[in-house]
Amino acid sequence: MSHRDLIRREFARQAGTFEDSRLNDAFTRHLDRLVDFAAPTADDVCLDVACGTGMVARALAGRARHVTALDLTPEMLATGKASADAAHLRNVVFQEGDAARLPFVGGSFSLVVTRFSMHQVTEPETVLAEMVRVCRPGGRLVVADLVRTPGLRGDPDRMERLRDPSHGAMRTVAEIEQAMVVAGAALVASEVFEVERPLRVWLDQSRTPADVGAGIEAELRAELDGGEPTGMRPLLVDGELWFTQTWSHITARAV
Ligand SMILES: C[S@@+](CC[C@H](N)C(=O)[O-])C[C@H]1O[C@@H](n2cnc3c(N)ncnc32)[C@H](O)[C@@H]1O
Repeated sequence: MSHRDLIRREFARQAGTFEDSRLNDAFTRHLDRLVDFAAPTADDVCLDVACGTGMVARALAGRARHVTALDLTPEMLATGKASADAAHLRNVVFQEGDAARLPFVGGSFSLVVTRFSMHQVTEPETVLAEMVRVCRPGGRLVVADLVRTPGLRGDPDRMERLRDPSHGAMRTVAEIEQAMVVAGAALVASEVFEVERPLRVWLDQSRTPADVGAGIEAELRAELDGGEPTGMRPLLVDGELWFTQTWSHITARAV
């Protein structure tokens, strides 16, 4: 199975959970923060690359002129379009396509964003080059993602892949910034922050098989008891098992 087929298979299964408020806290908790960071204006014509259900696209739509939301997985797009219809949004278009081959002419957009895609796609450098190409000179690019903490002991990508086999590899902030510069962007600002998440909700959102989830939980509990580091930085919150991710927002200008 190709990596793109694996992505379509996993996200076809996850489409419903992205819009389930009991399970999608990680996608909504810092959404306003990201939109404020992207700072859309009423004149902006935006693109959300690997949009999933278009959560970011729909949030931008309230403050921008128009948003195109592109993703590889038809079920994610259909779920997002249904939510946009229900919210009576009139300035969002959902389009199936590949982030590594964007079906737009150069300079089409003034604000190009992507969230939680860099760790997912097989060719992040190609995706960034495409994002820069379709952004007009002087326009803004925003990349938001999970990032790897330099020097962290353990292999969080291994745990992430057990949970969702379509997970690729997290980069460090410096690696993403460097790739954005190589793609033709001039860095403007970045922010990095820690996000603590309940393990059970994380596993339920991805619909991870129970036996695999139990294995992940056992490794995190073993780490808490002094065992091998998993890279997940587990903690107990009111007796419940949680873990820690590092997220980043990076913005740059297309030159
Ligand atoms: C973790 S989800 C994030 C969705 C959304 N960006 C958000 O933050 O709510 C990753 C998404 O990337 C999409 N994706 C992965 N590779 C892609 C590619 N090459 N082109 C377009 N979409 C892709 C998947 O279909 C999935 O919807």
